Amino acid sequence: ADEIQKLRDRKRAKEHEIKDSTLPEIAIVGRSNVGKSTMLNTLTESPNTARVSSKPGLTRQLNFYRCGDKFVVVDMPGYGFAFAKEEDKTAWKELIEDYLGTRKSLKRIYVMIDARHGLKVADKEFLTMMGATSSKKFQVVLTKCDLVSPPDLARTYMVVQEELKKSFKNAMTDRILMVSSYTGAGMNTLRKDMLFACGQ
Ligand code: GTP
Ligand code: MG
Repeated sequence: ADEIQKLRDRKRAKEHEIKDSTLPEIAIVGRSNVGKSTMLNTLTESPNTARVSSKPGLTRQLNFYRCGDKFVVVDMPGYGFAFAKEEDKTAWKELIEDYLGTRKSLKRIYVMIDARHGLKVADKEFLTMMGATSSKKFQVVLTKCDLVSPPDLARTYMVVQEELKKSFKNAMTDRILMVSSYTGAGMNTLRKDMLFACGQ
């Protein structure tokens, strides 16, 4: 509980701190508007840093946030509704090659999926692209769970789990998390999971 409390003390990391950082890192990816930045703010309870937007695609670059002295969470750009444009694909391939697939200190990739929709075409395209160049494990977090009824949430969970098992070998299919940044549901489980991923 003490460790969890410390995570709330988050600081935006400076450039030089990132390059030389040996702290474990956790990357947050997902479609635009899925709730990545909001989740980060709720996770650490300091709403002044990660930018939340009603317009998709606001978070453009990588944003590194220190969570206490334990690890760094990286807020990644949201991907679009489909990878129709070749330049989008190229940009993401580079991000995967330069960061997601190769960063030594990166301990876990969380892929955020909207609990109302499950895996969309863009998610599958992204996961396929990631699986082609990286062997890193990833974990799915269903977001905005306050917007779906418990039976619908259970159904989406099962469907997503099956799809992951069938098509994405790097998915940790027995550890799908469910959160709501609005109600705080699932947040403590997510915090614990992050500490665990970082070997704490
Ligand atoms: P990009 O940076 O554009 O990729 O988006 P993002 O994934 O960071 O999404 P962001 O956190 O900016 O949230 C997008 C919208 O979803 C905002 O209007 C949030 O208020 C809303 N939202 C985020 N989390 C939740 C949640 O748990 N429940 C509900 N109901 N809405 C949420
Ligand atoms: Mg964002």
